[in-house]
Amino acid sequence: MSDLDRRGQMNLFGVVPEPSRVEGEPPPPSEPPAILEGHRLRFEHADYRVWAEHMSKMDVVIMDPPFDEWSKVDPLHGRTTICFTNFQNRHHVERLYGRPRFEVVWFFKDGRWVSHRLPRITHETILIYGDTRSAYVGPRTHNQEPQRKGKGSVGRSVMPERFYQPRHRKALNSVLEYPRAVSSQMGCWGKPLGLVRDLLCLAGGSTVADPFAGACTVARVALPMGMRVLATESDKTTFDQSRGALMSGGFLDR
Ligand SMILES: C[S@@+](CC[C@H](N)C(=O)[O-])C[C@H]1O[C@@H](n2cnc3c(N)ncnc32)[C@H](O)[C@@H]1O
Repeated sequence: MSDLDRRGQMNLFGVVPEPSRVEGEPPPPSEPPAILEGHRLRFEHADYRVWAEHMSKMDVVIMDPPFDEWSKVDPLHGRTTICFTNFQNRHHVERLYGRPRFEVVWFFKDGRWVSHRLPRITHETILIYGDTRSAYVGPRTHNQEPQRKGKGSVGRSVMPERFYQPRHRKALNSVLEYPRAVSSQMGCWGKPLGLVRDLLCLAGGSTVADPFAGACTVARVALPMGMRVLATESDKTTFDQSRGALMSGGFLDR
């Protein structure tokens, strides 16, 4: 069975990707760019600008540069573009991309102090642009039977009997809590697998570009979901380390 055939089955993270479209979802993903033909993952030691044209043809683009370099970034646009930033640099992102469709906050309890004059920082901001699919992500809810709603509501003591149909998936909240991946190769720069998985489920699509790949968290999540990945990393030491880890994890074979 090919990796792509495994869609719809349990993946490494216990998630069942949703293959079918529901009303209101964006159109089916475009064909993968030719440079990905035969490749599930293409990981290059390069400045992302070299691959910008190809990356802009992908369904999803994840922009996770070092935050203090946002002022110098050349923006890439996918069908969905997901930008990681913080309060000090979000104005650069908004200058490049405009007003986001919405924002997600990544909350981590194990925050860090950046100044004695500021609260301890326990969140980062994720700005989302373009199309997304249903925000019901994650494991399926098993019970699809219509559920009876309560009869009370604010300002009214009695309501008629009402039912709701459970959705296939759990709802994505606008604040996502995941511990920081401090023990990852990238230290606190690395993003948690669960966070990336939620964002990719929300974006949908079959191809993803990760211009600032670091430890290749995006590839580690996207490949088991049946997606194809184009990733670049400009730092040679980081690239070699990540490539080695991907190979020993069976994600890359050359
Ligand atoms: C915040 S880290 C990315 C972390 C990654 N998302 C993860 O979860 O491991 C940013 C990475 O972008 C790389 N980088 C910086 N400028 C780059 C460029 N122009 N092209 C490609 N990679 C770049 C850095 O070397 C660093 O590894």
